[in-house]
Amino acid sequence: MKNQAHKLSQIVKNDKPSSKIKFIAVTSGKGGVGKSTISANLAYTLSTMGYKVGLFDADMGLANLDVILNVRTNKNILHLLKGEADLKDIIIEITDSLILVPGDSGDDIFKYGDSFILDKFYTQIESLDYLDYMIIDTGAGIGPNVQTFIDACDFVAVVTTAEPAAITDAYAMIKILSDKKEAVFMILNQVKNKKEAENLFDKFLQVAKKNIQNYQTIEMLGFVNKDTTIEKCVRTRSLFAQKFPSISPSEQLRNVATTLIEKMEHKVLSKKEQSGFGNFFKKILKQF
Ligand SMILES: Nc1ncnc2c1ncn2[C@@H]1O[C@H](COP(=O)(O)OP(=O)(O)OP(=O)(O)O)[C@@H](O)[C@H]1O
Ligand SMILES: [Mg+2]
Repeated sequence: MKNQAHKLSQIVKNDKPSSKIKFIAVTSGKGGVGKSTISANLAYTLSTMGYKVGLFDADMGLANLDVILNVRTNKNILHLLKGEADLKDIIIEITDSLILVPGDSGDDIFKYGDSFILDKFYTQIESLDYLDYMIIDTGAGIGPNVQTFIDACDFVAVVTTAEPAAITDAYAMIKILSDKKEAVFMILNQVKNKKEAENLFDKFLQVAKKNIQNYQTIEMLGFVNKDTTIEKCVRTRSLFAQKFPSISPSEQLRNVATTLIEKMEHKVLSKKEQSGFGNFFKKILKQF
């Protein structure tokens, strides 16, 4: 198993084009569906496939990424923006190819759009451009802060469970996103099995086709089963994809990662827009 995973990671690594960093927002309509769990474990999974990955916490909810990753963060992006810390003081190395950038949910970050130390901020933050992927764990819902982060990202993945309220809220979110984004990816979390995930997505698309003009943008990335091991890992502050690589949810998340990579590479070919950290924060800071 380990050997196979290693081989796969080598293949993916060798095929990797010299791409620019891609920003992926992970969001949801309803809260508590598994955004942070998926963000952290997806970032880890991508990092085992030969990519350099960063995680940015843009949601200051209860189960922050630092809790899930079992690390202590004293300083965050705000300290960097205020000139009170250097980048190296805020970044936390989770593994050789995965870092956490402690973030801020937006209320404060957006105030620093005309800060006089912005040049220094940009110089420092651009040193993270060596990353291949940046996963942004946003808050839930269609509020302005969440939308700002999503707007600044190249790609967006909406997480939902099968619960009717979660589906309804995901639908409202996706309706808005489909007008703005070239692609809106969906991840079905806490499902019973593949069949349930496919049925849900089919039904979702049927309704979308009738009511969402740009329904073609909606693409299924994959699903993750409901599994008590995941709950245990969240409670004990470990990554299920790292601790239990052979359980079904870990394999399902590898499928999500592979599909995401394929879809992104495909879309990026037609994209000329500048990427990179400087550009990401310019979009965020100038908006307010
Ligand atoms: N596939 C799964 N199987 C079982 N439990 C899960 C699964 N995914 C997430 N959970 C559980 O659901 C709970 C909420 O997860 P998480 O904190 O990741 O959600 P969230 O969408 O980030 O929430 P919030 O909106 O508050 O930020 C956690 O206790 C986690 O253990
Ligand atoms: Mg969360």
